[in-house]
Amino acid sequence: MLKSFFVALLGIPLVASSPSYESVGSVRSPPLTYNNSIILQRADPHIVKHTDGWYYFTASVPDYDQVILRRSQTIQGLEDADEVVVFQRKPSGVGAGFIWAPELHQIDGKWYIYVAVGDDDRWRIRPFVLEGTGDNPLEATWVEKGLITTNWDTFSLDATTFVANGVRYLVWAQNDPNWGDSNTALLIAPMASPWEVRLPAVAITYPDLPWERIGHNVNEGAYVIKRNGTIFLTYSASATDHNYCLGLLTASETADLMDPSSWAKSQQPVFASSAETSNWGPGHSSFTVSEDGLSDVFVYHGRSYRDIAGEPLYDPNRRTRVQKLYWRSDGTPDFGIPIPDGWTPIRLRSAADETLYVRHLQGSPAVAQRDPPALAETQFRVVTPGLSGDGTVSLESTNLPGRYLRRLGAQVVLAANDASIAADASFVQEAGLSSAEGVSFRIGSDYVQVEDGVLVVGAVAEGDEAAATFFAE
Ligand SMILES: *[C@@H]1O[C@H](CO)[C@@H](O)[C@H](O)[C@H]1NC(C)=O
Ligand SMILES: *[C@@H]1O[C@H](CO)[C@@H](O)[C@H](O)[C@H]1NC(C)=O
Repeated sequence: MLKSFFVALLGIPLVASSPSYESVGSVRSPPLTYNNSIILQRADPHIVKHTDGWYYFTASVPDYDQVILRRSQTIQGLEDADEVVVFQRKPSGVGAGFIWAPELHQIDGKWYIYVAVGDDDRWRIRPFVLEGTGDNPLEATWVEKGLITTNWDTFSLDATTFVANGVRYLVWAQNDPNWGDSNTALLIAPMASPWEVRLPAVAITYPDLPWERIGHNVNEGAYVIKRNGTIFLTYSASATDHNYCLGLLTASETADLMDPSSWAKSQQPVFASSAETSNWGPGHSSFTVSEDGLSDVFVYHGRSYRDIAGEPLYDPNRRTRVQKLYWRSDGTPDFGIPIPDGWTPIRLRSAADETLYVRHLQGSPAVAQRDPPALAETQFRVVTPGLSGDGTVSLESTNLPGRYLRRLGAQVVLAANDASIAADASFVQEAGLSSAEGVSFRIGSDYVQVEDGVLVVGAVAEGDEAAATFFAE
């Protein structure tokens, strides 16, 4: 009695919350080394690192006819991991339509999959819950808990759950019949059990900005990462073609999350298509942690081409990608741009002034700056071997792939790789001159170093070794 009163008042009392909702990334953490894309033809990716040390993966499949799970000890290993089907489209009734965007969560010792399913009308999409018993979800016994009852019997999908201030919430996308203009808004409600919410739910964002209204008026695919008492909720906007992009809501963990005014909305997308890196329609993100436990890993899907013949939903080539989630010194997340295929890039922080990051300014001399405005201009892929071959490395731009940092006189600029730059764009990477945890880049007998906020190449003065040392992150 007392317990049910407590549940009615506050939602589910919590025994333990999954660590995956909480940011682990220090502002300065070592680089990630993943090779994108991670998994082809898997959209709406969700990766959870469980306390057993395994990464669990689920996603939408191109035929939208089943829920699959994979697991691996590493994120990269998910690529080749065996896939298990834990739910299959049914011949009729609830579950007979599209099956979209599953998420896997562990709540109080049981596994839950939140997944959107259609019925005999495949577009009659509603959030559905599966409960799994067993340590390993790939081998768990799954029981159907049914549809989640919401304010209205309308198109609703993409349920996610998180805990804030001791209360578990569900957030999902739904057509609000009282807001004539939307395909889907995002709704929130506290949970009364892992398959029930306490109504009424309230809308915390409607697709009311131009970039949320291209093709369709959509807010969907929410996911939460918390850091230092702040809740960051990413969501996806517009149609699922190249206009798809990520928006961001922010709230204090101690605010009344059922009050829409507690949520501040970014007026611009925080992550969108990049023609330069050939990544289109990035979205439906989730977050996990790196194997070393030091970085937040941002997981999303995107396509490698812009134009799609016909309805984007039936184009199968949304693929799972990962990149490092960086944090600005003000504590807000910096998503950057969808990075190019291949190895994840690094940033270089000066050992002489640890607030400064190397940033290219295209053909103008590269600088080392505090809080650089464009993350991608500070990200470089370490190409090994470098353009001059064995024993060297080259630093390739992330936002302008195919361009490399090169020495030009005593300065450093970004230049296209036209063969003539090989000698000037190849460096010997050594242990940092001032700290073995850092790196130094030698070219001939000179070193790349920071001098008055500008990157220069020259001899290292005694006592000035930190200027020629960088920490990769
Ligand atoms: C990295 O991924 C690409 C495909 O995106 C693949 O062609 C390449 O072989 C991978 N490299 C390694 C070392 O696995
Ligand atoms: C956490 O937030 C508090 C105030 O909200 C701030 O004073 C503190 O510096 C923050 N800590 C970190 C590590 O960002």
